[in-house]
Amino acid sequence: MSELNKIALKILSGGKGILAADESTATMTKRLNSVNVKSNENNRLNFRETLFSSTSMKECIGGVILYDETIKQKTSSGKSIPELINSSGSEVGIKVDTGAKVLAGSTEEKITEGLDGLREKLKDYYKIGARFTKWRAVYLISDSFPSDLAIATNAHALARYAALVQEAGMVPIIEPEVLMDGNHSAKDCLSKTSVVIKKCYEELDLNKVDLKGTILKPNMVLSGTNSKEKITSEEIAELTLKCLKNSVPREVPGIAFLSGGQTEVEATLNLNEINLKNNTNFIMTYSYGRALQQSALKFWSKDVNNKLGTQDIFNHRAKMCTLAAQGKWSENLENSK
Ligand code: G3H
Repeated sequence: MSELNKIALKILSGGKGILAADESTATMTKRLNSVNVKSNENNRLNFRETLFSSTSMKECIGGVILYDETIKQKTSSGKSIPELINSSGSEVGIKVDTGAKVLAGSTEEKITEGLDGLREKLKDYYKIGARFTKWRAVYLISDSFPSDLAIATNAHALARYAALVQEAGMVPIIEPEVLMDGNHSAKDCLSKTSVVIKKCYEELDLNKVDLKGTILKPNMVLSGTNSKEKITSEEIAELTLKCLKNSVPREVPGIAFLSGGQTEVEATLNLNEINLKNNTNFIMTYSYGRALQQSALKFWSKDVNNKLGTQDIFNHRAKMCTLAAQGKWSENLENSK
């Protein structure tokens, strides 16, 4: 087993998942402002340190994705953030793209940037403890989107990123996110997500990326947020599995879904259904940002010194997601708090 495959399996196995705490400062500022907390370095660190020192880290969280600011911060006791995360047996991840910018030739679609100077940046992140990375490509969905141009350019960037990350001894998370916004049907989401993912693997192959040392972070197959279509979690699971079975090569060890605007309970319920029906060889788990942090953030914002209360909420969410990653979640357990 290669070292990269070992890292990927360590992050994803046994119901463990990933805490995506890699919001850029601009995004974190939006999140903090939405709960009336000032976004400064100290508050951003305080909230994140509170989560990273929760008891559920040990049993539930195989990896934490950080933003550049956080990976370089120290906790109140003087430990570095990577040391704190490692102390619970979890791996340190880092977001390395520099964001999605308007794609030349389009007014609306985006291309994710960050390849320039990436080789050097990766060496530094490895030195301070990172063992996996994230790069997110975003795709609009409508009758005419995503365009062939957005599909091809983002797949190319994702593959070049992944090759550089493996060269630096880390596991790349490949995140092609077809957004939920729009009035598309789940069937449209299925066909467009499949095309997007297949193109990524075509480019990954061309760039000689060892798929056993990668993690895929896709969207679930859902109908658009403005669509009148209402589908059940069973249908979501069936369509999502169909999509991944047909577009992801068998060598990929695991898939860690993004929550992408689903509520905490929706993201948990849908992951549970996916695992109940999982007829693939892939581990199916979570790499959630909002669906792990939302309630904890709300609670914390009322009293930023109430560490234990905040952790209690986060622990419950992490436990529910870890149960869902094993197909063992239930509404009773969800409401047992
Ligand atoms: O890139 C997206 C994040 O890592 C996951 O965030 O679960 O809130 O969509 P989300």
